[in-house]
Amino acid sequence: MSNQAKLELDGKTYNLPVVSGTEDEKAVDVSALRATTGYITLDEGYGNTGACQSKITFIDGEKGILRYRGIPIEELADKSSFIESAYLIIYGHLPTSAELNTFSDLLTSNQNLHEDMKYHFESFPSSSHPMAILSAMINAASCYYPDLMQGDRGHFDEHAARLISQVRTIAAFSYRKSVGKPIIYPKNNYKFTANFLHMLFSDPYDDYEIKPEVARALDLIFLLHADHEQNCSTSTVRMVASSQANMYASCSAGVCALWGPLHGGANQAVVEMLKEIHASGDDGSKFITAAKDKTSGKKLMGFGHRVYKNHDPRAKIIKKACDEVLVALKIDDPLLNIAIKLEEAALKDSYFVERKLYPNVDFYSGIIMRALSIPVEMFTVLFAIGRMPGWIANYKEIADDPKGRICRPRQVYVGQPLNAYVPISKRK
Ligand code: ACO
Repeated sequence: MSNQAKLELDGKTYNLPVVSGTEDEKAVDVSALRATTGYITLDEGYGNTGACQSKITFIDGEKGILRYRGIPIEELADKSSFIESAYLIIYGHLPTSAELNTFSDLLTSNQNLHEDMKYHFESFPSSSHPMAILSAMINAASCYYPDLMQGDRGHFDEHAARLISQVRTIAAFSYRKSVGKPIIYPKNNYKFTANFLHMLFSDPYDDYEIKPEVARALDLIFLLHADHEQNCSTSTVRMVASSQANMYASCSAGVCALWGPLHGGANQAVVEMLKEIHASGDDGSKFITAAKDKTSGKKLMGFGHRVYKNHDPRAKIIKKACDEVLVALKIDDPLLNIAIKLEEAALKDSYFVERKLYPNVDFYSGIIMRALSIPVEMFTVLFAIGRMPGWIANYKEIADDPKGRICRPRQVYVGQPLNAYVPISKRK
């Protein structure tokens, strides 16, 4: 296998080093291209650009493989918990019992927001989307820890635990605010996911009964979303972190990137699409026809992926969990039947087959969240809670790299050539 690539430009040949990953992924290293040739690479949407070398998550999109720190997602979904997988993703190894206890204690002792932060919640209009509140409040949380301004290296463990724990508290508080209900504080004796359900659904006078199958399904959703290498939001976190902005600022930017319907917002968009199909009486076939027509403005939400050109392994796990949860909770959701029909039809349709479009993680996650009584506008917030360990691990890779450079892509300018300033009196 060659460890050099040859590039011919303007009659000259240049040798470019080839970099190999653990799983034999190959990349042509163009870091010195501009300095040696005067050319840059152009890759709109970054479909062919490796922005970093990372040790956290491996994906083989052709084979439908996803591994956190080398461990297959199927094994983690079966045997691990969100918090154990979060530790694995951030620290690079499965925790011992002592390490897991220390991590859990740190999460519990940092789960309460600074009391003054309650006042920030009061200033948001009740119509606010919880993703807007989440992003703003994560950034606001940094104001309470002045050590961050001097760099957070000495306090990484504490800040990481605080962010994982508090993003869940903020999410629950923003939901309570949106429905005009009083804030419910976390309990020290509850596990991470049970505590979230408690903060969402308990009342000051009546504790919500946490069903184990509900807590387990939600924990699985968090675990399956915990990292996914250089997606839009994680790349945003790395981009912001590369300027040496603090962990909270970097992750708050990640929340904004996640919000869009082409990324984390797809879980909300899928349920809205299924509701629209259900209300119109369509069995899904009209929608499939529209999704294939580029002028319709419709897409089959929850389908397709930049990296997976095969089944998204998370979608398979979620679909199975979805079936189990609906049976356990005795729910007959017509949207599930529509989703199943859409999937079957799309997987047989030449448009989707030729473009290798398969269901992604978001196709069934919304149906589980509905079954768990999670309101639709909270779906993407749940994704953000799950993704926090991945963002923090990626932040850490940037912050720990002594040779790290600020991320700063170039462009090919296609605007006007040199142009003169025209005084306003002479403009036509
Ligand atoms: N419905 C209909 N057509 C689609 C869909 C879809 N869901 N997804 C892709 N296509 C078509 C494109 O129009 C394009 O067609 P063309 O070759 O005729 O021009 C072709 O398939 C390739 O798609 P791209 O847009 O080039 O794929 P890209 O990698 O840029 O986008 C994305 C990936 C954003 C996920 C896209 O598939 C999409 O919009 N899906 C729906 C939204 C969604 O589910 N997002 C969640 C992604 S997973 C996540 O972030 C957790």
